[in-house]
Amino acid sequence: MSLHAGEDGSRFAGEARRGVTVWFTGLSSAGKTTLGRAVEAQLRARGCRVEILDGDEIRQRLCRGLGFSKEDRDENIRRIGYVAEVLTRHEVIVLVAAISPYAAVRREVRERIGAFVEVYVNAPVQICEQRDVKGLYKKARAGEIQGFTGIDDPYEPPTAPEIECRTDRETVEESASKIVRCLEEGLWLAGAR
Ligand code: ADX
Repeated sequence: MSLHAGEDGSRFAGEARRGVTVWFTGLSSAGKTTLGRAVEAQLRARGCRVEILDGDEIRQRLCRGLGFSKEDRDENIRRIGYVAEVLTRHEVIVLVAAISPYAAVRREVRERIGAFVEVYVNAPVQICEQRDVKGLYKKARAGEIQGFTGIDDPYEPPTAPEIECRTDRETVEESASKIVRCLEEGLWLAGAR
């Protein structure tokens, strides 16, 4: 097992590659997708095998037809968790970006997947509402959308996330680098190529 750079530039050439799920949870407009993309770019630059599972996109495909009741959100998270589990087993670094507002189902997927790093993408709801990337907070305030997370639907913050990113105080680069550093320190990047 060598700890020096391999011919392909990987620092941990010779070690087995490991998969891991990095699960971004937080309010709409907190920055989950943005951070996920930034981490993806850093990891790809290092030659890692990365896949992003984004709530908005998954809801157009695998979870089409699911709504935003507690039952449907939990089902959404279980399906995403299943795909993440399979990919993780196949040594992919999986970046999941979904509000995932309920702690119990987050715990459930964490236990199933095992290799799991939870990232709490945290910005105060007022800031998320100011950003309102998709204009949905405005609709929720106008009563056009019911049960919007953070407005009239619950969000249970993680109590012991591996990483917390205060996206109202940190730049995207700072948060992304913090996550990549944490993956390095946990040796999740060992053998990545
Ligand atoms: S989760 O709660 O099941 O984890 P997910 O991340 O997949 O949610 O999808 C959230 C996205 O759906 C939001 O970013 C937003 O674009 C859209 N959306 C539509 N209605 C709602 C709602 N009532 N609450 C939250 N997000 C909603």
